[in-house]
Formats: sequence, structure tokens, C-alpha cells
Amino acid sequence: MSTMVSTAPPILANDFRALWREIGADAEAALRRVGESGWFILGAEVREFEKDLAAFWGMREAIGCGNGMDAIEISLRTAGLQPGQRVLTTPLSAFATTLAILRAGGVPVFGDVDATGALDLRLARQLFEAQPDLRWMVPVHLFGQCMDLPELAALRDSFGLKIIEDCAQSIGATWQNQPCGSIGLTAATSFYPTKNLGTMGDGGAILTNEPDLATSARQWLNYGQSEKYVHTLRGLNSRLDEIHAAILRDALLPRLASFTLARRQIASAYREGLHHPNLTLPPASTPESHVNHLFPLYLKGNRESFMDHLRKHHIVTGIHYPHLIPDQPAMQGQCFEIAGSLPVARRLASSEISLPIHPHLCAEDCARVIDVCNSWKP
Ligand SMILES: Cc1ncc(COP(=O)(O)O)c(C=O)c1O
Repeated sequence: MSTMVSTAPPILANDFRALWREIGADAEAALRRVGESGWFILGAEVREFEKDLAAFWGMREAIGCGNGMDAIEISLRTAGLQPGQRVLTTPLSAFATTLAILRAGGVPVFGDVDATGALDLRLARQLFEAQPDLRWMVPVHLFGQCMDLPELAALRDSFGLKIIEDCAQSIGATWQNQPCGSIGLTAATSFYPTKNLGTMGDGGAILTNEPDLATSARQWLNYGQSEKYVHTLRGLNSRLDEIHAAILRDALLPRLASFTLARRQIASAYREGLHHPNLTLPPASTPESHVNHLFPLYLKGNRESFMDHLRKHHIVTGIHYPHLIPDQPAMQGQCFEIAGSLPVARRLASSEISLPIHPHLCAEDCARVIDVCNSWKP
């Protein structure tokens, strides 16, 4: 095996060239259509993509915006977050989740996570019980796994919470047919290239069943403009480009179901094939509740040595996430709170490794990843 793998082609975390081979013709046609239309910002492409995305997601309205981070900030602003209000969120996510809360004027309160890596809703309940002034929440459906929506809804109703769901990694994940993102006032998502509905650049969207929030979000993302040259809010410039909307609509959204199926097949092959005693997998989930944006595993032993072993066999791995958000240098001097010592989040952050998972990873490559992982000598 070792002689074969030394010349083996690399297995990437994401294969954007393979993606282009599949979608290139559709993306070029979409680009041409936008060019020929002569309309590049907030036109028919964005409107039509928003309709398709809302229908796919099973939500009343989708509003395109510049990126996932802005989608969270705009959601919090439209939902009425006031400066200084405390927002329960997770320490284990992209920094953007917290940055959006800070930019909207909120004070992040970091709660610990459970074995799936998402906010521990049992601990969250205790915090809401003990702290009547904690009534905002930004949970993240991490790694593509839909959180327990009935429990999230129960928390919302018991404590009158305002919830913005970070669905940047979980488009299409459901809990017993209910879409992730449908418990909160809005769902915020990202079309960053690595995401499961990633475009060829930046993009994001807000989804909501509340027409008033949709109207307000549209205003926030366009300089706070209520009608041409009338600005009733000091808003952002955060528009989804016509080009990205066209590519998403023609080339990517129609393929999302088959891409998700491919990701689920890889995840299930990994679950079946990985047998190393030092590797732990996250708790199993029902297939429809997970879109397998990432495939995390947890390592007992030296993470660098394991990653190096895979690197020598030309397999790219990642870490999601090596540092907890409250530990980031940029948090120094910021107003935030930590509920407890975050033992589970710290354990996951220090032991996680993400294996390659993307729609163009073939069965042979998947088998190679499994063999190489199982052959690691700690
Ligand atoms: C969980 C989560 N939230 C928010 C974001 C921010 O999305 P964007 O990069 O589009 O701003 C990301 C992307 O990294 C993410 O993974």
C-alpha cells in the first residue's frame, strides 16, 4: 500500500475543479444571461433565486444578502436586538457567528456544547431558567446536523426567546420533515464556496416566515433604504449579486439534493469503515437530519501526528475548530460572558479532525481515506 499511496493523487477537502467540470456549462449560461440582461444588482435573478430557495427550504420568504455573517447581523437587527442585550450562542463555530452578534450590538454569552458539537440545550434551559434577562439565542446547526427542533421550540415557547438560527452549514437538513431554521424568527445562511450550497464567491440569505421581518431585512441590506433615496435606517451594503443568484439558481440549487445524497453516502461509508481504537465518531443521527457539510472525528492521541500521516498519503484534513471563540485574540476588550468552563467544547476543539467530504469524492478515494486512517500508528 505505501508504494501505491506515495504517488496517489491528492484527496482534497473540497474539489472545486471537479465541481466546475460538472456545473461549468450551466454557470457559463447563467453568466451570459446576466451579462446580456444589462442588470447586475437586485434584479430578476435575485428575485427568482429567492423564490426557488424559499420553496426548496419550505419557508415563506428568502432574502439574498452579501454573506452569511451579514445574514446573522441583519437578522438580529431586524428582529430588534438592542445594544447591550445578551445573546446565548456557541463557542464552537466559525468566528463569524459571534462577530455578527457583536456587530449588531449584542453581548455574546457562550454556553457549552453537547457531543454533537452544537449548543447543549439542556444547559441552555438551565441558563434561561436562572437568567430572565437572557432572552436571545443564536444556535448553530453545526457540521450540517439539524439540532433537536422540538426542544428548541419548547425553549422558545417556555421563555419567550428570540432565536436566530445559524444555518450556514445545514441547508436542507430537517428534523422529522421540519426544516432547520423554521423555529427561530429567521434562519441565516451562507453561500461561501465550501458550504453545501456554495457559490463561486461570497453570498448569503435570510429565510423567514414573517413578512414584516423580510421587508425590514431587505431595507437593512440596502443602506436602510425604504424607497429610492429615502433612508430610514443606517443600514449595510450587503446585496447578493445577480451573477451569484443566477449561478446558484441554474447550476447549484438544482443539484443540491444529489450533492447531499453523495455526502450522506460518504458519511455512511466512513461510519462503516473507520475502526481505529483512537478514533471516536460523533453520535449517529437520522440521515435526513444531517447534510454532512463536514465529517468530524475525535482523536485520542497526537493530532498533528495523525494529520501528518494523512498528509503523507496525500489526504487533506481540517480542524473545526481549533480555538474556542472566547479565546480568540479579537475578543480581548469585548464585552462577553462564558457560562462555566466549557469542558465539552474544549475537549472537542482539542481533538477534532475533519475528513474530506464533498460531492465529487469517489468511492475509491473514500475507501483510501478509511484505509489510511485505520493504518495510523499512534
Ligand atoms: C456556522 C457559520 N456561520 C456563519 C458563517 C459566515 O458565513 P460567511 O463566510 O458567508 O460570512 C460561516 C462560514 O464560515 C459558518 O460556518
